[in-house]
Amino acid sequence: MSPVPVETITTDIASVDISDQLPEGQRTSCPVSNPTTQEISPELLRTSLPDRINYIKDFIMFGTPDQEILHKVAPLVNDMIPQVVDDLYAKLFEFDVTKQIFLKRNEGFDGPIPSKLEDLTLDSAQLVYRKIFMKSWARRVLTSDYSSGKTWAYMDKVGIMHTGVKSFRHRNHVAPLVVPYRDCALSLGWVQTVLQTAILKLDSDELSNEEKIAAIGAVSKVIWIQNDLFARHYIDE
Ligand code: HEM
Repeated sequence: MSPVPVETITTDIASVDISDQLPEGQRTSCPVSNPTTQEISPELLRTSLPDRINYIKDFIMFGTPDQEILHKVAPLVNDMIPQVVDDLYAKLFEFDVTKQIFLKRNEGFDGPIPSKLEDLTLDSAQLVYRKIFMKSWARRVLTSDYSSGKTWAYMDKVGIMHTGVKSFRHRNHVAPLVVPYRDCALSLGWVQTVLQTAILKLDSDELSNEEKIAAIGAVSKVIWIQNDLFARHYIDE
């Protein structure tokens, strides 16, 4: 059979609207022609942090109720943060690919550093020092003012600094830190599970079931935003 010339193929069918022939509830509308569709500039998503954050917040519906429930949960889980951080480091020390990154010298730390992987322990001086930053990040996640651009700028800098690019002024004088995105994402997933499990285990007189559901959602959202603020510096969009 000889092929049909392209110009004879009719596309009329594409413009037929059959939605009024469908039962109610199954009627569809094309999102492209929907007047409520927001116009998002991919260029601004890349170049403007506030634009990116607005888009993400809208998409995952992150708002004041999320912030309120995070602030309510913060004092209830605050005492377990040091243990969460200890356990995260124990996890990172389970694998050579993640452990070896800690052989490098931290900004501001001038104490002794072992040169061999097997000599590096979880209680070595540099690790104790490093955990302070991680605890501070975890506390910020639960207590930050998410209406402030400074919060997002901090979370974005946390992402940037793991890619080998300098973002914090206090880290200007040290060798760049390079951590694969894979391990940052895995760590975020790990922290998310631990935090959510802790929330679910709270007594119901501390946090009602409804509040627990809200808190689980808020933690997922904020971890996912932090994840985006890592990923965007590794992935070419
Ligand atoms: C949950 C994911 C992670 C978060 C939220 C996170 C957060 C942070 C923060 C807040 C700092 C200090 C920033 C500052 O100087 O103010 C930091 C530094 C650092 N992170 Fe991460 N990190 C994550 C994953 C990882 C992973 C997977 C590794 C390695 C396997 C890693 C290795 C380091 C190292 C070596 C430093 C350098 C500290 C210094 O030189 O001062 N991080 N991270």
